[in-house]
Parts: sequence; structure tokens; C-alpha cells
Amino acid sequence: MQYSARDRKGKMDFDQFLRVVRKRRCIRQFKPDPIPDEFIEKILETARWAMSGANGQPWEFVVVREKVLREKLFQIFMDSRKRNRIIEQTRLKELRHPAFATAKEEVGFRDAPVVIVVCGDPRTFQATVLASHFYGGEGGPMATFYKNMANATQLIHLAAGALGLGAQWVSVNNTWESRIKDLLGIPAVLGVHTVVPVGYPAYKASPAYRRRLAEMVHYDTYDKSKLRSDEQIQEFLENLRRRTSTAYKVES
Ligand SMILES: Cc1cc2nc3c(=O)[nH]c(=O)nc-3n(C[C@H](O)[C@H](O)[C@H](O)COP(=O)(O)O)c2cc1C
Repeated sequence: MQYSARDRKGKMDFDQFLRVVRKRRCIRQFKPDPIPDEFIEKILETARWAMSGANGQPWEFVVVREKVLREKLFQIFMDSRKRNRIIEQTRLKELRHPAFATAKEEVGFRDAPVVIVVCGDPRTFQATVLASHFYGGEGGPMATFYKNMANATQLIHLAAGALGLGAQWVSVNNTWESRIKDLLGIPAVLGVHTVVPVGYPAYKASPAYRRRLAEMVHYDTYDKSKLRSDEQIQEFLENLRRRTSTAYKVES
């Protein structure tokens, strides 16, 4: 196919964009080397442009650089993992999340030079149309808040990847959210959504795995021949565990 000058330019931008998207990996151990402040600004400038329901923009970012605070944050994270680990060990071995497949603790993000704490103000969901508050549009107000926050977190990851950095997406739940708030002085009314350690990767990430495009795309109407049975989903999960277990280990 012949591309017009305009389409050639669009294709070049797209190819570059897709390279960044494909290259990005979640990284879970970091070199202690500092990263330029400018990189953090670029990452957060990117996150600022995330989409949000009715442009409510709930996000705020606490950039933790102080070593003592980072260590305390890491300790809070490790405490929460102890509980997760015990619960995960009750699962069938082949279905255990790779981060908790064994009773052994890993080094984790301890050495990351910067940790971005992604928090936000759920009151901003009032920006969305009133009807969605009654009818559970998009899963209801808190779901909208979480989706908005996830969009900003996603852009943090992509920007970090584009800058040659690694980042981890650490989900925060209510077993440790209040401890983070106390440590960093985050007001109670805000929600802490994700903790994102950022730095140079301490290992080479294993290749990414994604389902094939043809399996998930339906043209015009849903192609029911692609609907997976319960057994196929189970098989998918077991394969997924096998494929992704290396992503949680350091290859020296
Ligand atoms: C909603 C959500 C929650 C996640 N929670 C965690 C987490 O708590 N810890 C972690 O290490 N990775 C977490 N991840 C990262 C995923 O495990 C990761 O994106 C997935 O395994 C694909 O690997 P990749 O990002 O390297 O392609 C989370 C990602 C998302 C979108």
C-alpha cells in the first residue's frame, strides 16, 4: 500500500509509540543509581495528561526520594506482603501468584531511588454526570475513581519505559493504606491508589506475554466461537503462571 506524506508521518509516530508500549516491562528490583530529577518531571508531566471521567483529574503524586522514608515505605510494603504470602500459600501450587509461589521473600523494590506514591481525591467523581451516580455507570463512583487513577499510573509506566527506566505497579489495599498516609502526611480524604518504585532495572526483564490479537478482536458482532469455556480459562491461568513466573525473579 502507498502511504501519503501525512499517513507516513502518522505511521512513523505510531511505530515509535508501539515500540515504547511493547518495550515497557514491570520491573521489581532496581539499581540504587540515582535518576535525573528531570526524568521524574517528565514522567509526571506525562501522567498529568491522563484521561479521566468528565476530566475530574483526581490524581496527585508524592515523590519519595528521602532514603529514610523510602526504607520505611518498603518496610510497610514488606509487612503487607507477609499476610499476602500466608494467604497465597493456601492456594493450589500451580495457581499461586508467582510473587508468592514460595515461602521465600525477595529483595523487592528496596533499592529504587525514587518511589512515586499515586494518590487522589475521590471527591472529584462528582464531575461525572449525575445519572452515573444512581445507575452505577462504569461500575459506580469509586470504580470511576480507580479507573482514572489507573490511567495516570499507566502513563507513569509508559513514560518511565520511554526514558529507559523500570517501574513497578504496587497495588495498595486497605491493610496498609493508612500506614502510608501516616508516613507521608497524606490527608485522610485522599485515596492511595498505587505505589510506583522507579529506577534503573537491576536485571534483564523476561520477554512479555500477551494473548494473540485474533483471540480478542470481534468485528461487528461478538464471535462466540472465541468465548472461552471455564476449562479454557483454567488452562489459561495455569499457562499464565508458568509463563510469567520468571518476571518475579532476579536474573543475575
Ligand atoms: C491493576 C493492576 C495491579 C497490579 N498490581 C501489581 C502488584 O501489586 N505488584 C506487582 O509487582 N505488579 C502489579 N501489577 C503489574 C502486573 O503484574 C503486570 O503488568 C503484568 O504481569 C504484565 O507484565 P508487564 O507489565 O511486565 O508486561 C499490576 C498491574 C495492574 C494493571
